[in-house]
Amino acid sequence: MFVCQAKSGDPRRKGGRRALDRVLLFEQLLKQGGSVRIALVGGTGFVGRHIGRALLDAGHEVTVLGRTPDKVGTIEALRGAGAARADVTDPASLRGALDGYEAVVNAVQLPNYPMEVPRKGLTFDRYDRRGTENLVTEAVNAGVRRFVYLSGAGADVASDKIWYRAKGFAEDAVKRSGIDFVILRPSWGYGPEDKALNKFAFFARVSPVIPIPGVRPQLIQPVHVDDIALAVARAFERDGAWGRVLEIGSDEVLTMRQVVRTLLSVMNKKRLLLPIPVALAKLGTAPLRLLPEPPMTPLGIDFAVQNGLADTTEMKAVLGVDPVPLAEGLARYMH
Ligand SMILES: NC(=O)c1ccc[n+]([C@@H]2O[C@H](COP(=O)([O-])OP(=O)(O)OC[C@H]3O[C@@H](n4cnc5c(N)ncnc54)[C@H](OP(=O)(O)O)[C@@H]3O)[C@@H](O)[C@H]2O)c1
Repeated sequence: MFVCQAKSGDPRRKGGRRALDRVLLFEQLLKQGGSVRIALVGGTGFVGRHIGRALLDAGHEVTVLGRTPDKVGTIEALRGAGAARADVTDPASLRGALDGYEAVVNAVQLPNYPMEVPRKGLTFDRYDRRGTENLVTEAVNAGVRRFVYLSGAGADVASDKIWYRAKGFAEDAVKRSGIDFVILRPSWGYGPEDKALNKFAFFARVSPVIPIPGVRPQLIQPVHVDDIALAVARAFERDGAWGRVLEIGSDEVLTMRQVVRTLLSVMNKKRLLLPIPVALAKLGTAPLRLLPEPPMTPLGIDFAVQNGLADTTEMKAVLGVDPVPLAEGLARYMH
């Protein structure tokens, strides 16, 4: 059960009496299993649109906040959601944008993810770390009561990888905010609009050979995007989820080659898998950094070959989500 004790000095008090009233109303709604007013930031993205659908289906009132509100009406999964403009890299655009919301879900990621383009300001630090910090600051000012942050398996402020560090710092900002939070750390997500497995599916359709970066086995626990979305929706139904960092992935621990073989089997195709040594893949992709939106870069190769392991014990116990095995998840949409 939620405890509503907004002491003086509590960040929730910054929004004043009206914010406190919203806190009480929100807690009452949750206890009744009622509708929550949610600002879904990054709701037009791959993961965000599925989260939007799951929240709408659960009866919540969802407004998608992002740089391109016009996009929202063109996305079938977001039918029924509102839309408003907000840019997490621009604190001025966020001012007042979260007023009246009881909860925020942050599923933002930098355009061209996971490839940074530093000369255009597209970096993990600017979007994931500082963008989340900006959003948290505004959420506190607006008296928002709940914050769900889409982090990632491996998030760590001490990591030597910038994407894990950015997520680690973003998690810290969420935890320090004084707002009740759920931090969800997915392993490797896949689904109809993903940017990774669909590249392999593309090769499977047009080429007898599928290049796979990295020769060393890379271990991941592929999680269908609908299971990530279900986890977010369940958080709003389970008091015990709040204040936790929950990792999510399937029970299958697979190498990327096993993932691609499963994909080929679902597509009913036979193809040759060609592992490319990381050094060679980086050499080959280095010139692509000059493109306005590089489809791959040496840093992107590092991102693509990393492990993505998740300890799912707590997530299962608290949220009751049991992610589908890869073959079953792929069969839902891959032909
Ligand atoms: N995909 C995975 O497998 C996976 C795995 C683990 C964790 N995650 C995490 O899940 C989250 C969502 O990932 P994703 O794959 O769905 O990313 P995505 O498809 O690239 O979507 C990113 C979203 O962020 C929005 N956005 C970009 N810049 C923005 C800005 N300045 N202000 C507000 N919104 C902005 C985009 O909307 P507009 O372009 O319309 O502004 C879009 O809706 C990320 O935090 C990611 O790290 C993903």
